[in-house]
Amino acid sequence: MYASSVAARPPSGKRRILLPPPQSEGRQGNPGGNGGDGKAAVLAEIHRLARQRRGKVSELTSLDTSLRHLLGTLKEEERMQILFEHWARSYNRDMKEHAQAVRRILRKLKHSIRGHVVDLSTGTGLVPLTIQQFGGVQSVLANDLSPAMLAIARRTLKDYPLPIAFECKGAVSLVSPQPAGSVFLSQTLHLLPNHGRAMVIVNAYRMLEAGGNFFLIDEWPARVRPVHDLISALLDSVFHPIGLDDLRRSIQTDIRLLVERESHITDIQDSSGRTTHQMYGIRFEKIG
Ligand SMILES: C[S@@+](CC[C@H](N)C(=O)[O-])C[C@H]1O[C@@H](n2cnc3c(N)ncnc32)[C@H](O)[C@@H]1O
Repeated sequence: MYASSVAARPPSGKRRILLPPPQSEGRQGNPGGNGGDGKAAVLAEIHRLARQRRGKVSELTSLDTSLRHLLGTLKEEERMQILFEHWARSYNRDMKEHAQAVRRILRKLKHSIRGHVVDLSTGTGLVPLTIQQFGGVQSVLANDLSPAMLAIARRTLKDYPLPIAFECKGAVSLVSPQPAGSVFLSQTLHLLPNHGRAMVIVNAYRMLEAGGNFFLIDEWPARVRPVHDLISALLDSVFHPIGLDDLRRSIQTDIRLLVERESHITDIQDSSGRTTHQMYGIRFEKIG
């Protein structure tokens, strides 16, 4: 899904849906005039447009100015939910190579993954699925903003061998019922705007017990490589690439009590075995 440049570019010959700049996460209400439930109205409209063209939702293009306008009226969090509602079904297939890289990173970090584990944005459940066989894990809280992604995680993890609970919340507002030995944010940092990043990391810090670990797994460089028009347009509209050094600096500035302890990098290869870019996993320990 993501390839090797920070700039988001359309595939040659494809039209993009250009959205207005992302709106702040904290914004309340729906000034776009979609009524009380803007997201539902936009989803209904997306389907109506597709039906009108006797096509699939995925085939809607930048020519759909009404679609562009509609998406522009939404808060970023709502666009994120629509993105993953549409992407959920093909997500595992589209992200196979990324999943392999995440699994390799997790295996390298496995001796530090322990206790009650909180996965802030579990998606289809990759992290819980991979760590279930690691000895130190006691229980898992798997959270995601997207009901569609979480539904897949629930199915995938239905026979989980350890106590597991699911939540469908923004990572900023998630509360863990017990102190966590490990908190994960995997392949999600580049979807969070600057202020959102800081808030998510502060929340991870809050959930951790002293000596617990915050694991940040992401790819660098990251860029959008479109899967199909609607998904890539939505992805573009919520995409905030961040450099590894910027990230380390922001953690060291904002939360001095999270200390970097180890990091691992692994290649992401495309289906022909060509290395496209890299996945990194960093362990930060809560001190004090
Ligand atoms: C690229 S997927 C990664 C999923 C999984 N962590 C993995 O590594 O396979 C990003 C996930 O983050 C979720 N997400 C985006 N913003 C979020 C937020 N603010 N709070 C919680 N989840 C969020 C999306 O719904 C999506 O499932």
